[in-house]
Amino acid sequence: MTRYARITGTGSCLPPRRLTNADMAALLAARGIETSDDWIIERTGIRARHFVDEGVYASDLAVEAGRHALAAAGITAADIDLIIVATSTPDMVFPSTATIVQHKLGVAGCPAFDVQAVCSGFIYALTVADAMIRAGGVQRALVIGAEVFSRLLDFNDRTTCVLFGDGAGAVVLEAGAEPGILATDIHADGKHTGILCVPGHVSGGEVLGSPLLRMDGQAVFKLAVGVLEQTARTSLEKAGRTAEDIDWLIPHQANIRIMQGTARKLRLDMDKVIVTVDEHGNTSAASIPLALDQGVRSGRIRPGHTLLLEGVGGGFTWGSVLLDF
Ligand code: UT7
Repeated sequence: MTRYARITGTGSCLPPRRLTNADMAALLAARGIETSDDWIIERTGIRARHFVDEGVYASDLAVEAGRHALAAAGITAADIDLIIVATSTPDMVFPSTATIVQHKLGVAGCPAFDVQAVCSGFIYALTVADAMIRAGGVQRALVIGAEVFSRLLDFNDRTTCVLFGDGAGAVVLEAGAEPGILATDIHADGKHTGILCVPGHVSGGEVLGSPLLRMDGQAVFKLAVGVLEQTARTSLEKAGRTAEDIDWLIPHQANIRIMQGTARKLRLDMDKVIVTVDEHGNTSAASIPLALDQGVRSGRIRPGHTLLLEGVGGGFTWGSVLLDF
């Protein structure tokens, strides 16, 4: 009997503090930097983002998203035998945020580890969990994308600080005889490290190099549109499906123009694309599971629908997951 991994519950969490573009413009104006609601909406589609307050960490958002996903799946944390957290903004250098999440969920014993693939992190994490479930050792996995990117933003750099937000999204994946995940496809090309990075590191009790996000937006944009089409087609091909079979495209939420470009290349109408970038900004590894959960809870994504999830980000990394929900 073929063994598959299927999503049986989704959840998400946004910190309560919401900043509109007008709030960002005021924040930057206080530093003598100009931006506007019009520019941000026109170039990105973003209207607002959520930022955590001091003392709130990726694990806090992850735990809340995870609890919602567990409740939706009708199970408890004790039923989980694998926890993977995709994050580039871990609570600590080590241990992993996943082990902190495990403890906050009140369980112990099951393997828990982080995956670091920046904005493709959730796609990577889902791919790893799917492989571990199909291999037979895992029955139920909690896979979470959680980020506090507000901590990495340079509020003197208008080209990046208006783009990102904080949040978390989670899924419960369970083993079963029916798919489930149909195909996965992940890639990386390390020669592009410099176009999107936080170059700093900890050494001898100090942070050496900048601990703030740097991005060559145009270079990332150009690469993103190409690889997102490629990986979508690869996952469809692996599963013997076509773009016409997709009920919902759930892309990484970085920029509405990238999503429109991808949809156009796949000949998908924008009303088949789940869009949350307007309200969340770019939440990196959290953006896909956040969008998935919104699509499910709003009643748009229903059992039996075919979903194509796809991400792209720092590394450069990219990938996709095709699944029957
Ligand atoms: O999550 C990982 C993946 N990340 C992405 O996918 C991000 C990909 N890149 C992008 O989304 C876009 O490249 C950006 C949104 C970052 C920038 O949009 P763009 O259309 O590529 O703008 P640009 O960089 O070409 O800048 C156009 C102008 C420049 O002014 P000049 O040189 O034409 O006078 C910028 O200085 O817009 C200016 N600008 C701004 N103006 C007002 C840049 N940022 C701002 C701002 N407010 N916040």
